[in-house]
Amino acid sequence: MTESDFSSRISQAAEYIRANMPELADTCLVLGSGLGPLTDRVETIASVSYADIPYFPQTTVPGHEGKLILSKLSGKLTFIMKGRFHFYEGYSTQEATFYVRVMSKLGVKTLVMTNAAGGINSSMKPSELMVITDHISLFCDSPLRGANLDEFGVRFPDQTQVYDLELQEKLLSSAKELSIPLHKGVYCYTRGPQYETPAEIRALKVLGADAVGMSTVAEAITASHCGMKVLAVSCITNYAAGISGQPLCHEEVMQNANASSRNSIALMERFFSKL
Ligand code: HPA
Repeated sequence: MTESDFSSRISQAAEYIRANMPELADTCLVLGSGLGPLTDRVETIASVSYADIPYFPQTTVPGHEGKLILSKLSGKLTFIMKGRFHFYEGYSTQEATFYVRVMSKLGVKTLVMTNAAGGINSSMKPSELMVITDHISLFCDSPLRGANLDEFGVRFPDQTQVYDLELQEKLLSSAKELSIPLHKGVYCYTRGPQYETPAEIRALKVLGADAVGMSTVAEAITASHCGMKVLAVSCITNYAAGISGQPLCHEEVMQNANASSRNSIALMERFFSKL
């Protein structure tokens, strides 16, 4: 696909959303595992199905419903992405991050993401939360590979501070007010879908990773390229491979994501009240 074809797809998707929403938000919240029930608590203004948005990928993961919702969350008008796209589903990194550019085209300036992650730093217990301060994406494809889309950002973007410090502070103060433990740490992106081996986790620990997961980073890179402010929070759903000696399974991940959902939802509601 040429650069202008890709750019035109982004515009067509954005136009469809613009035509089907009564107004537009400047913030987008991407719901990871466990946060789905948040949408039952927000005021829904309008919603569109991913299936109806031109060129939008479809979600294939159970628990990741494919819907873009315009809502009021703690009084703040925001888009909510109920369901996201992963490289392990078979999408290219460019396809998986397509929506971020569509959001940018619609005027979104702040991207807030949540995800599930394995804890490498053993001070973090399953079902606790971690705000991402930085990431490691060394082993993965860049969403910015190929011709640069100059309308969004520069060819060689700086990555010194991908995750916005002011937003992190707001999240940390929200957690403090609610007495919810919130760790800070570095998230390492792996492609999946297989979980890591214990040797891989030992290697990632040496590299400085506190948690590991299969999403978020490519989206954060794309958003920072567009000049958006980014915030990301991980729910630690399990000890990473080899740390507890127990095998990992998706059921444990979902169980702990659900166990933390009360805290995650309360935290997001308080955080959005500060935006
Ligand atoms: N590894 C990678 N991705 C994950 C994990 C993990 O241990 N837990 C939840 N998502």
